Amino acid sequence: MLSRLRVLLVAVTLCAAVLAAAAQRAAAEGNGLALTPPMGWNDWYSVYCGVNAQLVEQTAQEMVADGMKAAGYDYVNIDDCWMDPSRDASGNLVPDPTRFPGGIAPVAAYVHSLGLKLGIYEDAGTTTCAGLPGSFGHEAQDAATFASWGVDYVKYDRCNIPYGEFPGESEEQVQQTLYTRMSDGLKASGREIVFSMCNPDPGDDPWDWGAPISNLWRTTTDIQDNFGSMLANFEGTVGHYRDAGPGAWNDPDMLQIGNDGSSLPEYTSEFSLWAEMAAPLIASTDIGALSKAELAVYENPSVIAVDQDPLGRPGVPISSANGLWVLTKQLAGGARAVLLFNSTNTAATISTTATAAGLPRARAYSMRNLWTNAATETGGQVSAFVPGRGVAMFTVGALPKRRAPKLVPHTVLSLDSASAQLPLGHSTTVSESFANDGTSAVKRVALTLTARPGWVVKPVGKTRVPVLPAGKRYTVAYKVTAPPSGSPLAASILSGAAAYDPPAGRGRATATLGQLVSAPVGAPFRTADVTTHPALFGASGRDLAIGSRGLGVFNPPYGAAETDSYAAIYEHAKARRASTAEVTVTADPAGGTSGGAGLIERDAMTAPKRSPAAVTLYVNNFAQVVMAWNASGGEDVDSHYAVPSLTVRFPVELRLVRRGSTYTGYYSTDRGKVWAPVDAVSVAAVASSGKQDVGVFHASGLMTWMTTATFRDFRVR
Ligand code: GLA
Repeated sequence: MLSRLRVLLVAVTLCAAVLAAAAQRAAAEGNGLALTPPMGWNDWYSVYCGVNAQLVEQTAQEMVADGMKAAGYDYVNIDDCWMDPSRDASGNLVPDPTRFPGGIAPVAAYVHSLGLKLGIYEDAGTTTCAGLPGSFGHEAQDAATFASWGVDYVKYDRCNIPYGEFPGESEEQVQQTLYTRMSDGLKASGREIVFSMCNPDPGDDPWDWGAPISNLWRTTTDIQDNFGSMLANFEGTVGHYRDAGPGAWNDPDMLQIGNDGSSLPEYTSEFSLWAEMAAPLIASTDIGALSKAELAVYENPSVIAVDQDPLGRPGVPISSANGLWVLTKQLAGGARAVLLFNSTNTAATISTTATAAGLPRARAYSMRNLWTNAATETGGQVSAFVPGRGVAMFTVGALPKRRAPKLVPHTVLSLDSASAQLPLGHSTTVSESFANDGTSAVKRVALTLTARPGWVVKPVGKTRVPVLPAGKRYTVAYKVTAPPSGSPLAASILSGAAAYDPPAGRGRATATLGQLVSAPVGAPFRTADVTTHPALFGASGRDLAIGSRGLGVFNPPYGAAETDSYAAIYEHAKARRASTAEVTVTADPAGGTSGGAGLIERDAMTAPKRSPAAVTLYVNNFAQVVMAWNASGGEDVDSHYAVPSLTVRFPVELRLVRRGSTYTGYYSTDRGKVWAPVDAVSVAAVASSGKQDVGVFHASGLMTWMTTATFRDFRVR
């Protein structure tokens, strides 16, 4: 009893600490605007420099018609490229006459007539990021211009700032000076204008100084539409929860939902994470092209309510071990929004408790799942079985005693496999666990586990339980055997289901787990993994698959020294001085810059930094066909050529012909009927001595993210 009391005391103290930590230190911008995070649209990630009046007005109409306006999205924001390259004789900004023939004012008036607001973009430097006139030296004048046009929101960028004109000042000090000038200009303009700072470069820490002069500031670099980039921007923002609050928000950049680079569950995670962080919800996509399901993500009223909660407290991370995140956000009215986010690729159970989430001790709590609307009650556990890259999001609140029996107990069905990867024909143990987190018993529990045809699933214990008391779990093990043959590396799905009688009615829970199966790689092939995280390999005849992380063989933005981070399946010393290697790349989902999949030849595949890299021919993350090679004799690939104006669809055939230290690359997109040349390159003699290792390689393009590339019919002659 005493020890339980102690646990309780520790829990209460921890909870008080979480609350104290969440207290905001920022004094918000004095303009009284953006008391909840701004919501709206911005053109940048759908058209980049393609903005014009028609697009803006049409998008405003679409936002009214499709329910986004009603859901709370009210800013319609123009990004870079709206201006003419020159100011007028009086130094005023001039809208580009072809993009905005009537100027900005009529567009603002139209947007206002629909009950929406207009945003615009400028820059604190001499020119914008796209090279158009910046506001440097014209801050008050430009602020007055925006006000006269009826602008309601200004995004203010940080490109081309003349730091040289501020000797002795750090870049951050100069930014503070220049952003303050525009902030003052907007306040003096006489119009209510939200001020959004866009200064996301490493070394800028705007969360430390942005609140008194702006309504939001960027925390991270420009987002891309892939899970790795979204994760990086989340991780770069979530720790700054103390610095944001009403009128002053952390901005992890705009929402990508609808831009086709991620799956719907990944987009659902993005939206949930942004809402939990109280981030601005600015959709940067073609609104008219959104699918019903994507629109339903943007318009989920419960998740929007978490973002827009009037208390304005960003979610606080309470754990993140092994990439399994728990965040809790204090809501007005006393409830918490609890977000369980699985940043890994494999489904997992994520758990916390109501008190750890900051709620007072109670006999029971209500839980509402914000994506399924299911309403349940729990004795204190807050758990879910969350798919890889997915979320479960709940509002949790203490329940008055008499109300608990009206809700069904919260139950969680989870699956766990003893082996992450299973060779074809082999068996593993999968456990299926059903937990009753509620405060009353559930009855007649029946568990099942099914797999795809060809798999054998045998329970090793009873799959039925007559009564599962409150707070208890039941686990049954299964022997699961993969089929004897199949593709080199694939994810098969195991589906678990539980049927049970809650106190009222019949309940059902389901869970799915991806089980990776591989055909082991054997002679004549070998494997090489020079990434920082174990890669997965599979081979079936001459069809190969590689699941790996890694920055790749050539990393243009950062230079060659960052490279040599890939996984390969290869044949040792198979490439003679006159030889040809060929393969069909059937899938290459690489995401980060410099990721890709294709052919590689070098003296020793497993010896990065000792054996100089020779030459690679591959399809990169932009679906370009690329050759990269070592021309200097240094230890890295240092030269690079991408076929101009070409993006390919899979399958793509690649052919690499070696004649001594000269290599010619070819590709074909019609199954080898027509071969087009890529380039003929000469590799430094030291990088290409005698016989070479030759094989296929893959790198996801990011150190934190694994993707799987597949290859057909690799051969060397
Ligand atoms: C920078 C910003 C982007 C966008 C572009 C426009 O990259 O971070 O959000 O505004 O400039 O050129």
